[in-house]
Amino acid sequence: MCGIVGYIGTKDSYPILIKGLHRLEYRGYDSAGISLITSNGDLVVYKAKGKVSSLEHDTADKDISGTIGIAHTRWATHGEPNATNAHPHYSESHNLTLVHNGIIENYKPLRTELEKNGLTFHSETDTEVLVQLIEYMQITHQCDTVTAVHLALKNVVGAYAIAILDKRNPNQLIAARKGSPLIIGVGKGNSTAGEGNAEFLLGSDATPIIEYTDQVIYLKDEEIAVLNRNGKCAITNLDSIQQTPQLQTLQMSLDELEKGGFQHFMLKEIYEQPNAIRTCMKGRIDPQNHDILLSGVIDHRDRFLNAKRIIICACGTSWHSALIGKYFIEEATKIPVEVEYASEFRYRNPVISKQDIVIAISQSGETADTLAAIQLAREKGCFVYGICNVIGSSIPRNTDSGTYIHVGPEIGVASTKAFTGQLTTLILFGLAIAKVRQTLDEQLFHQLVDDLMLIPEKMQWTLEHSKGIEQFARTFTYCKNFIYLGRGYNYPVALEGALKLKEISYIHAEGYPAAEMKHGPIALIDEEMPVVVIAPKRGLYDKVVSNIQEIKSRKGRIISIVTEGDTIVKNMSDYCIEIPDTRDSYAPLLAVIPLQMLAYYIAITKGRDVDQPRNLAKSVTVE
Ligand code: F6R
Repeated sequence: MCGIVGYIGTKDSYPILIKGLHRLEYRGYDSAGISLITSNGDLVVYKAKGKVSSLEHDTADKDISGTIGIAHTRWATHGEPNATNAHPHYSESHNLTLVHNGIIENYKPLRTELEKNGLTFHSETDTEVLVQLIEYMQITHQCDTVTAVHLALKNVVGAYAIAILDKRNPNQLIAARKGSPLIIGVGKGNSTAGEGNAEFLLGSDATPIIEYTDQVIYLKDEEIAVLNRNGKCAITNLDSIQQTPQLQTLQMSLDELEKGGFQHFMLKEIYEQPNAIRTCMKGRIDPQNHDILLSGVIDHRDRFLNAKRIIICACGTSWHSALIGKYFIEEATKIPVEVEYASEFRYRNPVISKQDIVIAISQSGETADTLAAIQLAREKGCFVYGICNVIGSSIPRNTDSGTYIHVGPEIGVASTKAFTGQLTTLILFGLAIAKVRQTLDEQLFHQLVDDLMLIPEKMQWTLEHSKGIEQFARTFTYCKNFIYLGRGYNYPVALEGALKLKEISYIHAEGYPAAEMKHGPIALIDEEMPVVVIAPKRGLYDKVVSNIQEIKSRKGRIISIVTEGDTIVKNMSDYCIEIPDTRDSYAPLLAVIPLQMLAYYIAITKGRDVDQPRNLAKSVTVE
C-alpha cells in the first residue's frame, strides 16, 4: 500500500526519488518523506502530511544534496496520517533511517521491550520499532548494520519491504523484503561498460525504475540486499547464506506511465480498453484453427481434465470479474465453480481437495488477502492458478501456473482495463479448458472464438457512443444514493458499476440482481433515486423489462444500458446508452464501459480526485 523508492549512484538522488514518489503515489498518498545522506555527510529526513507535492514544497529551502537516499509515500495503517508518523524514521542515535511497507504484527511487545531498555519512540508506527530494533541489535551484539538487520528481522513477525540508510556508510543502501514487494533496478553503469557510473534503484514496483534501467532483480521473501556504490549487489537470506540474484528485463515502457494527454489516468485507461483487450488476446487465439493457445492450461492438461471443482479467490473488482468468470467457466466446462472473497477464504477452514483448482485473480498480484488464500490452498495440496496483470509480482511467483492479462500498467486507483482484461482472460481460460475436456460442440466453440475477436472493435464503438454521458452526469451530481441492477452475467456488472461510483465520487451505491428488488430494496425507490439498469437484448431481457416497470411505477429515475436499436427499454428510460449486440456471456465486456464513464464524469463534476480517491490505495499489501 505504501511506496518505497531508493537510489545510490553518482547522480543527485533527490530529483530521482521525488519523481519515483510521484510514480508510486497511486499506492498511497496520506503523507510522504525522504531521507538523504547529504554531501556534508548529514543524514537528513524531511516529511510532510499529504501528497508528494507538499513534501516538495517543504523541501524547497532545505539541503537536498547527496547521491544516496530513500523515500516513501504512505497509506496509514498504524497511526494517523501526519508528518510524525510519515516515513522515514530515525533510530535513537539518528545514525539510521528506514522506510517500510507492510505490517509488523508483533510491534507492540517489541516496542515495550525496547522502551524497557531506555529507547524513546516518537511516532505511533510499527515501522519505528524496526529501525530502533536494528540499532539495538547492533549495539547489543557489537556488529555491523547488515548483521544487525539480519538479527532484527529474525525477531519480526509480519510483512515488510524496507530500505535503510546508515550515516556511517554512505556507500551502501540496505534493502529487505518479506511479503511486500521490492524490486532492485540495476543501473546501466553497473555493467563493464561504465565503470564509475554504477547505480542502483529500489522500488515497490517497476514504475520509478523504468526511466533509468530495464534490468531488475525481484527480491524474494526473506532476502536482504546490500547495494554498494561500486556496483556490487550482495543478496543473502535471513541465515546469511548468499543467494544468486537473477537479472530480468522489464517489459514496460515509460509512455505507459504517462497520462498521454488525458486529464486522468482513469480516463486514459478506460479509453485504452480496446487495445488492451487486443494485447490480452494476442498470441492466445489461433483464428485459422479456432484454437485457444493458453500455455498455462495446455501445460497442465491433466490437472484440468481431472478437476472436480474450481474455486476463485479475489477481492474488490477482481472478485466481480470472478463472478462473471464463474458463469462462463461453468457453462463452457461443466466444472462447478465457487467464488470466494480471499479475505474470508483465508480465515475459514475450507473443505478443499487435491483435485480442486484454486484460481487467484489480482491486478496487482500483491493483494495480501489473495496471497494468503493461495498459500492456504497450496498447503492443502491444491493446484493454484494465477490471473494477474503486474509481471513478476508475488502471486504469479507463488502459483503453479497462470496467465497474465497483459493490459499494461494500471495507475488509476479505480480498476477499469484490468477488469475487462480479467474477463477476457477468464473467457480464454474457460475455452481452453473446454477444449481439453471436450465440453463444447465444435460449432459453438468456433462461434465463441469468433465473437470474442470482435470485442475490441465493439468496445471502440461503445466508447464513441458513451460520450453523451459527460452531459447528463451533471444531473446526478447531487444524488446521495444510486442503485445498479442487472441479471445473469450482468448482475456482477451492476456490482462493479456501483463500486466504481462509490470509490471515486463517494456517493453511496448498491448493486443488486434485478429480481431481488421486490424482496426489500424496492422500498428505497422514489423520485430521488437513480437506478442504473443493465438491460442488453439477450439473456433475461424480458424479465429485466418487468423489473424496470416496477421501478418506473414507483417513480425511480432510470439510466439504462441497452443493445443498439432497442426501443422498449429506451422509451422507459430517462437516459439511455447503447452498446453493440454481442452474446450474453460477452455483454459485461461492453456494458461496464458506460458505467466506468458514468462514475468518472459524476466524480469529475463533484470535483473529486479521481486517480487518488480518499482512503484508497492501488495495491492492498496489508490485510
Ligand atoms: C476497485 C479496485 C479494488 C481492487 C482490489 C483487488 O476499483 O481497484 O477493489 O480490485 O483491491 O486488487 P487486486 O486486483 O490488485 O488484487
